[in-house]
Amino acid sequence: MTRIIQLSDIHMVEQRMLAYNVVDTAEYLAHAVSYIVDLLPKIGPVDGIVITGDLTDHGRQAQYDRLKELLSPLRLPLCVLPGNHDDRDVMRAAFSEQPWQPKNGGLNSHIQLGNVHVLALDCLVSGKAHGFLTAETLAWLENELALLTDEPVIFALHHPPFETGIGHMDAQPLHNAETLLKLVSGHMGPKITICGHIHRYMTSHQPCGPIMIGPSVAHAVCPDLTEGGASQFSLEPGGFLLHSYDSATRVFLSHYLPVGPHSGPFPFKP
Ligand SMILES: [Fe+2]
Repeated sequence: MTRIIQLSDIHMVEQRMLAYNVVDTAEYLAHAVSYIVDLLPKIGPVDGIVITGDLTDHGRQAQYDRLKELLSPLRLPLCVLPGNHDDRDVMRAAFSEQPWQPKNGGLNSHIQLGNVHVLALDCLVSGKAHGFLTAETLAWLENELALLTDEPVIFALHHPPFETGIGHMDAQPLHNAETLLKLVSGHMGPKITICGHIHRYMTSHQPCGPIMIGPSVAHAVCPDLTEGGASQFSLEPGGFLLHSYDSATRVFLSHYLPVGPHSGPFPFKP
């Protein structure tokens, strides 16, 4: 069994700073890491972590340094890709020790975790909130897919390639989503697609298979589906996703695991 944890939208800030003057994102990440460490004996072994973008709030070196320090208790292979709050070059330098890190161009990487191939895509458009997959990234993806036949694949990127119903987030979409969906459809092996950006858990059941948005461990975008709904966030419980792949059945299974304060566990048969 291959198991992969998906974290998303951590938005790390420097010490004594709060994201949006409200959110202590470091404290939320530290709590999530501690929760995962305690949970590992019950869900593990885990083969690695994928972070689907917005690792930091402003893409600064000190923010990446703090993020890496807070993640270090997990001691798991790490696969990262940029979100619109990240800085491509600062992030490249921050993870330069990682063997999968490309030395130039987009931060696209192909990492095998357990039996699963993770194809991590860079859809960052510097200075913009929307996402876009460049011709270079799409050519890279086509080349990597040509090396695979029916192997299990997780496609990972920051911006979801579908509308979520939350208007102010849909106003910053992945501009060439259709092109990506065609490439995902073309892969004949078991596959799921994972994203971030919306700070809420969500699944879209597409012809090319399920596409999941992982929640943030910190703040959540409010679930306002009304036309012209306000751009707001809340501190409802954060969470993460645990994706597993069974080589015998060739099936993916994804768990949503909240990490906010809660009571229990309690036995069903006291
Ligand atoms: Fe985000």
